[in-house]
Parts: sequence; C-alpha cells; structure tokens
Amino acid sequence: MDYLEMLAKLGVGNAHPGGYGATLEQLKHWPIAPGSRVLEVGCGTGRTACHLARNGCVVTALDFREDMLAKAVKRAAEEGVSVHFVQGDARRLPFAAHGFDVVFLESVTLFAGVYEPVKEYYRVLKSGGALYDREMMALNLPSPELLYEAKDLYGFDMLPTQQEWLRIFEQAGFREVLCWNPGKLSQKVGEDESLYPDFGQTPDQDTLINPELWQTALRYHQMIEKYGDDLGYGLFVSKK
Ligand SMILES: C[S@@+](CC[C@H](N)C(=O)[O-])C[C@H]1O[C@@H](n2cnc3c(N)ncnc32)[C@H](O)[C@@H]1O
Repeated sequence: MDYLEMLAKLGVGNAHPGGYGATLEQLKHWPIAPGSRVLEVGCGTGRTACHLARNGCVVTALDFREDMLAKAVKRAAEEGVSVHFVQGDARRLPFAAHGFDVVFLESVTLFAGVYEPVKEYYRVLKSGGALYDREMMALNLPSPELLYEAKDLYGFDMLPTQQEWLRIFEQAGFREVLCWNPGKLSQKVGEDESLYPDFGQTPDQDTLINPELWQTALRYHQMIEKYGDDLGYGLFVSKK
C-alpha cells in the first residue's frame, strides 16, 4: 500500500510536519483575514480547510484523491462549515489566473512533483497574494540512500534543502520568499495527536485488520527514526 493510500484509509486530519499544532501556530503568526479567498491545494481530509472556513475565509479546497475528498466533505458537513471541494491536480489547477488571495499548502508540493505545481500556485494567485507552503526539506545534501528511501516510501523525485526550496519559489516568480520556523522532522512526532485529537477523523472500517496498511505505517516510523535528524521542514512564505 502506498503512503497516500495509508493516510486516506486512516483518515488522518493533519498529515504534515508539525501537525495541527504547527498549523495553529502558523495562523497565529501569519493570520489570514476573514473574507480572503483561499485555495488549499492537497487538502487531504479537510481539517485545515474547515478551520479556515470556520474563521471566515472563503475556502476552495482541492485534492486529487477521491477517498480523501469524501472524508473532507463529510467533515465539513459534520462541522457545518462551507468549503468548496474540488477534485483536481496541483499540476494543472482547474482555476482561472489571479483568482485567489492566498494559496495554502501543507505537505503536498513534494508529492505533486514540485516545479509544475509551484508555477500553478503563482498563476492562480492575484498580484500581491500570499503563498504559504509547509514542506519537508533535507537538512544537509541528502545521501543517495535517503533519496532512494524517500522515493520508495513517498514517491518523491527530489528532496530539496532550504536554500533549494527558496530558489524554486523565486524562479517561479515569487518575491519576498522566506522560510519560517524550520524544524527537525524528529521533533514532536506523536505529541501533536494527543495535544490536538482529531474528533472528525474517520478511519475505514477495515483499517485495524489491514496488514498492508500497518506495514506502510511501520516503514514510515522506521524512516523517521533513521532519518529524523536529516529531514526537516519549514513554512515557505512568499508573495506574488
Ligand atoms: C501528505 S498528504 C497532506 C494532506 C493535508 N494537506 C494534510 O496536511 O493533512 C498529501 C496530500 O496531497 C494530495 N496530493 C498529492 N499529489 C497531488 C496532486 N498532484 N494534486 C492534488 N493533490 C495531490 C494527496 O492526495 C494528499 O491528500
């Protein structure tokens, strides 16, 4: 079972470095004004999209997995919030240019192939709009072994360092690019779930008895244990 299928089956609500706590901390430091038109790309099961909508944003949330979106739609209905969910690909966003005040992502761009989606974020943002993209990064130049394992588990074709990420956004046309609050992936793993339990999480019924799922979960934990100090993450903030 691949990593994204595992997340979808478990119905994980904050499948990004730092978890929900990091999202809340980010929004405190980088608030998004109520009424802003926000596009969340790769919304997964929609926990952040619902949070943004609850706080007054006009949210469009896109993901290419039907199973993730089904859980996101259910979550929004249960919470009674309005989010416009769309199935689509980050590499070819089904939106006109300049339509959003904010493009928001949490651990998606690496899965989507980096260069194509970053160009798309730029295209759909209005001039002066903000991009917030929380991504994993290599803390040093990644070893061939780490690159191999990141490809094998996550399907990543590359694992940029912080400097490389900054260049990727700048080359797509973004300005005032910075990396806010970088951290090590090994920090806080597990803690977040007990601090911010996700009451809207809806695991598939067969989850507990699916050996393939637990094998993938084990590979994930082994990866974090082995490379937790080589892998980091940060919030890349920039303007169009
Ligand atoms: C690691 S999960 C993060 C989900 C969510 N942002 C969160 O933090 O819980 C990556 C998400 O990106 C979505 N995704 C990956 N590649 C994509 C693409 N090319 N277009 C749209 N969504 C994509 C996956 O389906 C998945 O929901």
